[in-house]
Amino acid sequence: MKRPVLAANWKMNNGPTAAKTFMDAFLASYPPGNDRTVIIFPPAVSLTTVATAASSRADILAGIQNIHWAEKGAFTGEISAPMAKDAGAAVVLVGHSERRHVFGETDAQCAQKCCAASKAKLAFMLCVGETMQQREAGETERLVTRQLREGLSETPNLIAADFMLAYEPVWAIGTGLTASAGDASAIHTVLRSELREMIGTRADEIPILYGGSVNATNAAGLLAAPEIDGLLVGGASVEASSWLIIAQS
Ligand code: PGA
Repeated sequence: MKRPVLAANWKMNNGPTAAKTFMDAFLASYPPGNDRTVIIFPPAVSLTTVATAASSRADILAGIQNIHWAEKGAFTGEISAPMAKDAGAAVVLVGHSERRHVFGETDAQCAQKCCAASKAKLAFMLCVGETMQQREAGETERLVTRQLREGLSETPNLIAADFMLAYEPVWAIGTGLTASAGDASAIHTVLRSELREMIGTRADEIPILYGGSVNATNAAGLLAAPEIDGLLVGGASVEASSWLIIAQS
């Protein structure tokens, strides 16, 4: 029986005031449960607000959307893994497609970030996914496999590391074009078998989430697929009302 992971990626939405309003509304209606984990990735300025609000709930974790790989130093505007942890993060999102495609993040940088998270004893969620052009060119499997292998290449003791994967086809993010449960499952199966080659049976314990235009209407159908262990949700996670439905899917 899988334990689903429902993750909200607020992107650049919900500053501290809105985050507090969201958490008050969400917590008032979302009963504590042992059958699933909720992760909320607010913008960094709202991290402490979310972490504090959820502090009495073991089933709700706060995460950070991005980190720098160094522990500290002259990196204006950046946040390190130990700092994120100090501010209440339990999980780090690494290699989200907007980081890769808008900010030019490479597989090598993702690898350093996964390593930094792991060293700081933070869980990390590595995102992989293809563009429409890559999909049409038949490159999806090769690409996500490379993103997986390279992204995990620097993590010390990968077998014991606390991490998750998110398959997010770039063409499905924020577009309203959701991958079908079957299409997503096919790639999840590829990722799982690649992971088995890397870390053996431990691979079966690593949650693989799907993300890309998940909403309150399609969440339950996607989550019903045995290969889909959770959902990473952007636009539909920003408002507490729709997130409440998705988190209970
Ligand atoms: P979306 O974003 O749900 O708005 O498509 C998903 C994501 O980018 O994580």
